[in-house]
Amino acid sequence: MSEGGSARPRVVVTRRWPEAVESLIAERFDGVFNETDEPMSRAQLADALADADAICPTVTDALDASLLGRPGIRTRLLANFGVGFNHIDLEAAAAAGIAVTNTPGVLTDCTADLAMMLILMTARRAGEGERELRAGEWSGWRPTHLLGRKVTGKVLGIVGAGRIGLATARRAHFGFGMHILISSRSGVAPSVLSELGAEQLGLDALLERADVVSLHCPSTAQTHHLIDAAALARMPERAILINTARGDVVDEDALASALANGGIGGAGLDVYEHEPSVTQALLDLPNVVLLPHLGSGSEETRVAMGLCALANLTAFFADEPLPNRVAAAQPD
Ligand code: DGY
Repeated sequence: MSEGGSARPRVVVTRRWPEAVESLIAERFDGVFNETDEPMSRAQLADALADADAICPTVTDALDASLLGRPGIRTRLLANFGVGFNHIDLEAAAAAGIAVTNTPGVLTDCTADLAMMLILMTARRAGEGERELRAGEWSGWRPTHLLGRKVTGKVLGIVGAGRIGLATARRAHFGFGMHILISSRSGVAPSVLSELGAEQLGLDALLERADVVSLHCPSTAQTHHLIDAAALARMPERAILINTARGDVVDEDALASALANGGIGGAGLDVYEHEPSVTQALLDLPNVVLLPHLGSGSEETRVAMGLCALANLTAFFADEPLPNRVAAAQPD
């Protein structure tokens, strides 16, 4: 860690951020940056909570009740770099008098783009084709080579109708003529349903009817293993599951079994139950596309996420309302 010195608020940034945003933090605050970009240990996080006025964590920092419940905490703000905040125990943070913010909105397009990319890659067997070609095993064009499934005009089930779910639905409907089904605990506005020509229905009915199911709900106690063996058994044999939300929404072992046994046709995953580790059975299967949590991973978006976190830091230390405060109960 490298440190600047002054009476300005001390801000610990737990991972490397785009340089332009780190420079702005260093201008405005007593910034402490992670030059090695190694994930911080629990001991380092505990030290940061004792020393820093604010911490800017990411999905790789588990800020649970045992860390946030320690005595002698100086930190008053967790300005998360990311929209998902399931790695932060919000109740423990509130009990410790720590505000929490996130970075919504700025990563919607990139994450929806990536969901669409996984739909196409999985249905059209792009991962299998690329692996075959790189392995020198492509023998040339032939009419029955690596036949995938057509995406245009198929039925897409969106689980979770927040910004990213709806952005994915718009891409699929207006770009690929897909018929949209939506399941959402918090409901969908009639204007959105009519814009998309979409149907709102319960999860079970959605799973039974969709050719592709794309997950966009947050990770909560209610959504843990929402897609388990029973849910997978409802899906048609050729259906595809896409997850760009959080890994623990899916029972990864049950998914690997369903894929191996022909229970479903394929899966496209960007997130995993125990990141960065991935269930070996999934790694061994051909009909799954695996990406390393790249949903928001464009230069433009990662800068925008940093600027969003910076806006939250700046407002907090100016005693202004926080632009993106998060509370314990959030809609999907
Ligand atoms: C997000 O913003 O939630 C990304 O998944 C990284 O945490």
